[in-house]
Amino acid sequence: MRKQIALFNHKGGVGKTTTTFNLGWMLANKGKKVIIVDCDPQCNLTGMVLGFKDAEGFASMYASDSVTNIRDGLAPAFESRPALIQPVHCTPINGQPNMHLLPGHMGVAEYEVTLGIAQELSNSLVTLQNLPGALHYLFSKTAEKYNADFILVDMSPSLGPINQNLLMTSDYFIVPMFPDYFSAMATESLASILPKWAAWAKQGKKLSLLQEAIYPFPDKQPKFLGTIIQNYRVREGVPSAAFQKWIDEIKRGVEKRLIPVLRENDMLLPDELYKKVSEIAQRQAMLFSDSAISCPLFKVSDFNSLIALSQKHKAPVFDLSDAQLEQVGVVLEITKKSMQKFRALYSDGADRIITLTENAESY
Ligand SMILES: Nc1ncnc2c1ncn2[C@@H]1O[C@H](COP(=O)(O)OP(=O)(O)O)[C@@H](O)[C@H]1O
Ligand SMILES: [Mg+2]
Repeated sequence: MRKQIALFNHKGGVGKTTTTFNLGWMLANKGKKVIIVDCDPQCNLTGMVLGFKDAEGFASMYASDSVTNIRDGLAPAFESRPALIQPVHCTPINGQPNMHLLPGHMGVAEYEVTLGIAQELSNSLVTLQNLPGALHYLFSKTAEKYNADFILVDMSPSLGPINQNLLMTSDYFIVPMFPDYFSAMATESLASILPKWAAWAKQGKKLSLLQEAIYPFPDKQPKFLGTIIQNYRVREGVPSAAFQKWIDEIKRGVEKRLIPVLRENDMLLPDELYKKVSEIAQRQAMLFSDSAISCPLFKVSDFNSLIALSQKHKAPVFDLSDAQLEQVGVVLEITKKSMQKFRALYSDGADRIITLTENAESY
């Protein structure tokens, strides 16, 4: 079964885009067919993957006659064209035949207001009934075309109608975090917004007008896969004290505030399943003392020099060749060791995601 996973946190700079790319690549390394979707009007993922330095790259891609990006894909629904939504002609990813990019478009921001009105689910809905199901329909048709197992949705840092739609029409979601005050605060606002979104989706799923639409509103109940804590500094192999404080704070927030809300709104997988993957993690010597649900999918320290090289070569931080690392001798060996550590982390994270999503229905 195809799985759509949203990477969601309304706070920016927490690693949504970086995780989408690296995790997608790792899932693809494991033989899964993956589509990464850039839903952020800032198009960071698209810029990174395609190596666009300025607007020119985007302009030539958008000038194509075929449907090459999310805005063109959605246009039939949002611009009331008579034609049906067609699958997007995705961009292949150099070096990773199992992964494709569904490129972003700044113009998607223009659809936000209309979608917001459609999602008010008021009486004026007849003219807007096709919009709430359009994003999901577009991704499904595109995933079908590429025979994808996973659709990873990179989202913008906002609590707007597009993100509300993307999250509530996904099968699963991951919340990337950065260990600081703002991510700790973000747990609070997620705990207060998610019940509202869940109530809205529940109402949407019951509305015959949305079910009878050309692009029906999908019957989804998104489940939490976990958090990913990114980009902290390490000292002697463990997070430095300042970061550890925020990591603990985030875990507390997730456990005390977020998990109860997710449980009330049926957004959690069965407890045994979280326990199962945390046992896998423990076997792989990543010991977590915390409870199974709040333990992050993985924690990843600062990539240091690897992040710039990853962006320069449009390759994941864990799969750079010796030539791409641009180093020799002892320095090269040290960097390769650190790269192997990240490879093991992402590999473990991908295994846990595969286990969670493949067993979700059998529990
Ligand atoms: N583990 C990491 N180590 C170093 N830099 C990182 C790491 N994760 C993300 N970054 C950098 O942090 C910035 C924000 O990450 P990004 O993935 O763009 O976040 P978001 O999509 O949530 O805004 C980017 O410049 C990215 O290159
Ligand atoms: Mg981003």
